[in-house]
Amino acid sequence: MIIVLLGYMGSGKSTLGKELASVLNYNFLDLDDFISEKENTTITDLFQSKGEIYFRKKETHYLSEIIDQLDNIVLSLGGGTPCYSNNMNLINSNSNVVSFYLKLSIPLLSKRLFAAKVDRPLISHINSEEDMLEFVGKHLFERSPYYMTAKHTISTDNQSLKQVLENIL
Ligand code: S3P
Repeated sequence: MIIVLLGYMGSGKSTLGKELASVLNYNFLDLDDFISEKENTTITDLFQSKGEIYFRKKETHYLSEIIDQLDNIVLSLGGGTPCYSNNMNLINSNSNVVSFYLKLSIPLLSKRLFAAKVDRPLISHINSEEDMLEFVGKHLFERSPYYMTAKHTISTDNQSLKQVLENIL
C-alpha cells in the first residue's frame, strides 16, 4: 500500500510521514526530496532557473513514477501537488493508494510558515506575519477544494503527533 500525506505547506506532512513510516515499517519518501535528487538541484533553484510550470510538470512526472513503481511507502506530497495536472485523480483512482489531508487552521499555518519560509519559493518574499496570514488565508481558500478530495481528512490543530498518528492508523 502507498499512504499519501497531503496538505498546505507547513502542515507537518514530512514530520508525520517519517513517524508513520517507521511505525508501519514502510519506507518514507518526500516528493520534493525525490524531485531534488532526480533533477540534481534544490526546489528553490528549480523554481528560479526553470520556473514554476517546469516544476509542476516534473512534480506530476515523478508522482506518477512513484505510484507506478513503488509500494509499501509513506509519501508526503508538496503543498501544491494536489492542485495541478489532475494529480488527485492519479492518486484516488489507484486502489493501492490511500490519501490523508492534514488539515490545520490558517493562524497556526501562518505562524509556522513565517518561521520556515526560507526554502519555500512561493512564500519566501513575505515580510510580515500579517501579510503571511493574508496570503495563507487566500491561498488555502483556493486549494482546499483539491485537498478535500483526499480519502480522509485529519484535523491536527491541538493534537499531539502521537494522537495524529493514532488517528491515521
Ligand atoms: C509548494 C510546496 C512545497 C514545494 C514547493 C511548492 C506549494 O512543498 O513543493 O515549494 O506549491 O505549496 P512543502 O509543502 O513541503 O513546503
